Amino acid sequence: MNVLRFTDLVTAGRAKGARVFIRADLNVPQDDDGRITEDTRIRASIPCIRAALDAGAAVMVTSHLGRPTEGEFKPADSLAPVAARMSELLGRAVPLKAGWVDGVDVKPGEVVLLENCRLNKGEKKNNEELAKKMAALCDIFVHDAFGTAHRAEASTYGIAQFAKVACAGPLLAAEIDAIGRALANPKRPLVAIVAGSKVSTKLTILQSLAKNVDGLVVGGGIANTFMLAAGLPIGKSLAEPDLVGDAKTVIEAMKARGAEVPIPVDVVVAKEFKANAKATVKAAHEVAADEMILDIGPKTAALLADKLKAAGTIVWNGPVGVFEFDAFAHGTETIARAIAASSAFSIAGGGDTLAAIAKYGIDKDVGYISTGGGAFLEVLEGKTLPAFEILAKRAAG
Ligand code: 3PG
Repeated sequence: MNVLRFTDLVTAGRAKGARVFIRADLNVPQDDDGRITEDTRIRASIPCIRAALDAGAAVMVTSHLGRPTEGEFKPADSLAPVAARMSELLGRAVPLKAGWVDGVDVKPGEVVLLENCRLNKGEKKNNEELAKKMAALCDIFVHDAFGTAHRAEASTYGIAQFAKVACAGPLLAAEIDAIGRALANPKRPLVAIVAGSKVSTKLTILQSLAKNVDGLVVGGGIANTFMLAAGLPIGKSLAEPDLVGDAKTVIEAMKARGAEVPIPVDVVVAKEFKANAKATVKAAHEVAADEMILDIGPKTAALLADKLKAAGTIVWNGPVGVFEFDAFAHGTETIARAIAASSAFSIAGGGDTLAAIAKYGIDKDVGYISTGGGAFLEVLEGKTLPAFEILAKRAAG
């Protein structure tokens, strides 16, 4: 994808003395007292901010936090905890500015954090007047918020339309490159793992990937619906019988391309959904009426691990079992370790997937870990994200 890159502008000396407006995604989880419980997104925003400061720019950074009501400030919506964490990471003061739309006082070599952009009236609906005001604050707009790349809001889309220069920051550029490498020009075989509780929430992803991937591994409740489609018993497992027809269509579409959806040959079942429930390994055709499938079995896990080790590219979204319970974590752990051991380029995204990566400590062995939640899913659906679309349009002149 052809977009202007901030790093190229820096190299060309165009950031020196410029007013640079960075849209980051600093939407981090907090506990009831407002303490940040996970700061990956703040850490991921630092390289862009540092590059802008090192280049001698006057730096403004903003983000949304949660989904506040526009025009109604509540302390819980404030980016104050983010400013504090950012200040620790940058090793310098990061003042927080409220009411910034009509003007920001910041000098070259300084950075300010602009209060939660979703407090501005018109942000969500991409109000043109608001977007133009934001664009007027800067010489260069840098979109570095992949987590919001699927949103067309005033601080993500409208500002990119109207700013003198609009470009991708290093984080967004890295996501664009990793996505291109995994889905547009993959080294084959390309294997995708799509797991989660419901086919319905990921049907468009499954349909889109079925046109592209060589192997489509399904897991969790999704796999149960595919097992039904393959004529297997699933007892009282979570599944969507209404979507068996769609599952069959995905299987047929893959077959027609000479590709496959591996169906589990064995599973781990229990009679209750509990961490200490008795776990029993069974052949897939032997699941009893009062049992529920909570993980793939060891034979299935080993077969899938072989496929992942032989893959050229792996896309991973979702754990294949209830990995939060140790008795049902073996499948997800085997998949995670196979991805880590594979020479394939791998890209992973989605909240549960990131939790599994953290649990097995394989973050260094995954080719690229996406910071996007909904945005990553929309990429897998084959959609062109608004951020990519507008930045490509601006690059084209
Ligand atoms: C996310 O957490 O996925 C992003 O920050 C987007 O947040 P949103 O769904 O509120 O737009």
